[in-house]
Amino acid sequence: MSYSKRTRIAQLRNASPSDTVIDVFGWVRTKRDSKNVCFFELNDGSSLKGLQGIIDKNETSLQDQIDRMQTGCSVRASGYLVESPGKGQSVELACTDVEIIGEAPSETYPLQKKRHSFEFLREIAHLRGRTNTFGAVMRVRNQLSYAVHRFFQERGFLYLHTPIITASDAEGAGALFQVTTLDLEKLASSGKPVDYTADFFGKPAFLTVSGQLNAEAYATALDRVYTFGPTFRAEHSNTTRHLAEFWMIEPEMAFCDLECNADLAEDFIKELIRSVLEHCPEDMQFFDDRIEKGIVEDLKRVSTGDFTRMDYTEAVAVLEKSGKTFEYPVKWGVELQTEHEKYLTDEYVKGPVVVTDYPKGFKAFYMKQNDDGKTVRAMDVLMPRLGEIIGGSQREDDLGTLERRINEMGLDPNDYRWYLELRRFGTVPHSGFGLGFERLVRYVTGMQNIRDVIPFPRAVGSAEF
Ligand code: 4AD
Ligand code: MG
Repeated sequence: MSYSKRTRIAQLRNASPSDTVIDVFGWVRTKRDSKNVCFFELNDGSSLKGLQGIIDKNETSLQDQIDRMQTGCSVRASGYLVESPGKGQSVELACTDVEIIGEAPSETYPLQKKRHSFEFLREIAHLRGRTNTFGAVMRVRNQLSYAVHRFFQERGFLYLHTPIITASDAEGAGALFQVTTLDLEKLASSGKPVDYTADFFGKPAFLTVSGQLNAEAYATALDRVYTFGPTFRAEHSNTTRHLAEFWMIEPEMAFCDLECNADLAEDFIKELIRSVLEHCPEDMQFFDDRIEKGIVEDLKRVSTGDFTRMDYTEAVAVLEKSGKTFEYPVKWGVELQTEHEKYLTDEYVKGPVVVTDYPKGFKAFYMKQNDDGKTVRAMDVLMPRLGEIIGGSQREDDLGTLERRINEMGLDPNDYRWYLELRRFGTVPHSGFGLGFERLVRYVTGMQNIRDVIPFPRAVGSAEF
């Protein structure tokens, strides 16, 4: 027996019958034991479906191992592949030996052979990866990560690692986690005001909400870069779209305007979808059967069609003419709410929509101002069934305009000294966007809750595991 030469079940399922004895390792999903034979299904996470093992009780004396075999136990099964008479598999493993490596007593093992609710599975997040759904989600998530890097590497983008600890609130969103080594207990009992010069960095510091500002520094040196890293927002909203810790992908490009930015965003999403359809067909069929009917056809359509583009002013006009009564009434100048976005994607366009040129009042300071003095070169990419997946913009590249905006918004220009220098020295038109990775995984799998597409979710009031 050798661990290093073992073959995974995904490969074995497509192999031909052979009389060479092989060792297969995994976890037992089900067992059926009768007088003469025992059937069991072995899964090792390499694919949705497992490998069926058969023990011929007349030929082997494995009764003790069969008795100890229960759902969830880990085993080594040795035998040879034979043609399977059963449906849904071409080969099965005729076992000559079976070793129970780790037992999983049915009285205490929480994952029995029945449907468990996602709420229940969230409480056992350390074990939920052993279910069909979470195995499929994590394989699709993995494929998407791989496709993200391939997409950018093929286009000459450099993978940039931006800092996780930062002193600035890039988005001005105010939803920051503070990082400190100050002794909070001591501080509270002292009754004195906080002296940040005594803190680790000599000033307040936070977990990053976006790597964008740092990415801009390198895009204006290396032309095109992207980040793919953890992002933190102290979102108090307890929704199916928000996490406190999520992964964001942020490309940033020099010599690129809003159109060029939207083109990249559209190509990016379509290619990511295509890669999953191509490389995870079995998992995607599972989502189609069990989670979101018709999702495969839907994704095919989205990945081959064009995204509709409209500016904010047009979107508001569409909403006003819709004849719908929204909970939040629309008029020019208000932020678009989920219900508005949903109308645009699911009813009006019936597909993805890129909304551009929002009023500057509710967008970040760094967005390029339009000549109308009212709107900025922002874009949000909205997907049916989901809502916002991408937020991005062309960046303000004019030093004077950017300085004025920083002052207008009551920000301290000293905090942005280095950022302003990117405009002072060799400024260029540049653009970028951020795609929320878990939103993407949600969209592609059809899963309803963002907490079920990340291995260990972090959200308000919950940081288990
Ligand atoms: O729209 P946002 O806030 O944009 C930015 O952070 C820009 N700095 C990006 C850039 O231009 N480089 O966030 C980008 C995306 C959102 O569209 C959404 O998909 C995701 O990040 N996102 C979240 N995902 C999960 N949980 C949250 N709390 C999220 N907040 C934003
Ligand atoms: Mg946004």
